[in-house]
Amino acid sequence: MGKQEWMCGIRKKMEYLQEHLDGRVPWYAENGRYISCREDFWVSGFWPGMLWIMYGMTGLEYFKDAAWQWDMRLEACFVRDNNLHHDVGFQFLPTAVIKYKLTGDEQARRRGLLAAGFLAGRFNPAGNFIRAWNQDKTGWAIIDSAMNLSLLFWAAEETGDPRFAHIARAHAQTVLTEFIRPDGSVCHVVSFDPFGGKKIEALGGQGYDGNSAWSRGQAWAIYGMANTWRYTKERSFLEAAEKAAGYFLENLEKSGLPCWDFRAPDREREPLDSSAAAIAVCGLLELAEADSAKGNFYREAAGKLLGNLELHCAAPKEISWEGLLLHGTGHRPAGEQVDVSLIYGDYFYLEALARLEGWDFKIF
Ligand code: GLY
Repeated sequence: MGKQEWMCGIRKKMEYLQEHLDGRVPWYAENGRYISCREDFWVSGFWPGMLWIMYGMTGLEYFKDAAWQWDMRLEACFVRDNNLHHDVGFQFLPTAVIKYKLTGDEQARRRGLLAAGFLAGRFNPAGNFIRAWNQDKTGWAIIDSAMNLSLLFWAAEETGDPRFAHIARAHAQTVLTEFIRPDGSVCHVVSFDPFGGKKIEALGGQGYDGNSAWSRGQAWAIYGMANTWRYTKERSFLEAAEKAAGYFLENLEKSGLPCWDFRAPDREREPLDSSAAAIAVCGLLELAEADSAKGNFYREAAGKLLGNLELHCAAPKEISWEGLLLHGTGHRPAGEQVDVSLIYGDYFYLEALARLEGWDFKIF
C-alpha cells in the first residue's frame, strides 16, 4: 500500500472514532466497536498516542486538538483512588512526553516527570527490579516493564539527574539475568522475595506458564532492550534484544505471525496475537537502526512481519469499523480479549507504518 492510501484510510478511521468516542477510553474491540476501560488502566495512553502520531505525520491541528487534553486526564488519576503501576510509561510517554516534545508545553513536561518519579518510586533495591502490579504482588516484576524504562531514561536526560537512569539500567540488568533464557525466550512474570531480593520463581502471567514464551512479552523484550541499548550503549542490551528477536522470528506460525504463546500446547489450534507482531515490527525497526551490520536483515524481517499482518489481520476498511487490526489476544489464560482488536496493537501498527515512512520521532 502506498503512503497516501494507508494514511488516508487510517486517518478517516481515526477521525470517525474521535467523533464517536463519547468519552470512551479505547481498549479492545469486538465486531468493530471499541470497548472502554478506566482512565488509570494501562492502555489509556495508546489512543492519544495514535492521535499524536497522526498529528506528527500530517501536521493537522485536528489531531493535536483531539490529543491535547489526555495528559491532564491521566494526571488526574494520581489524586484519586487509582490502580496506576509500573505501566505509567505506556500511559505518559504517548501523552505527556510526546506532547512536550512536539509542542514544548511545560505542563506536559511536568506531568511526564511526575509519572517518572512515581515509576522510580516502585524500584526495589533488594532485588533490583521495578515492582509491577499493586495489591499483594509486592515482589513481582514483569517483562512489560522493559518498555516503561524509556520514561526513566527520558527523565534522566530531561532533568540531568542520573538516578532515573540508574534505576532503569538496574532493572534492565535484571531482565537480562532473570527473564531472558539462554535460548532467547522470555517469561512474563518473575517473583522475588521483596525483602532479601532473591528470585523465587518464574510465573506464567498472561502466558501459558512459567516455562512458556508469551509472544507479546517476547515483543516487549525485543523493543524494550533495543531501547535500553539506545539510551545506554551497553552491548549486553543489544545482544539481549537480538536474542529475543531471533526466538520470535524462528517461532512464527505458517502464516508468518505469532501464536499468543510460542509454547502453548496444540499451538496450531490456538489464537494468534497480532499486537505481539505489531510491537515486534517496531522493535525490529529499532534493532535495524541499532545494529548497522545487521540493519538490512532486521528491516527486511520487520517488512515481512508487517506484510503478514496486513495480509491476515487487516480490519474491514469501513471507517465505522473502529479497529485497524484483527486477531489480537489480550489475556488468553483468563479467556479475556481473545481474537479481538486491541488498541495497543493498533498503536504499534501505526507507529510501525509511521517509522517506515521516515517519521523518526521516538515515543518509546
Ligand atoms: N502490559 C500488559 C500487556 O501487555 O498485556
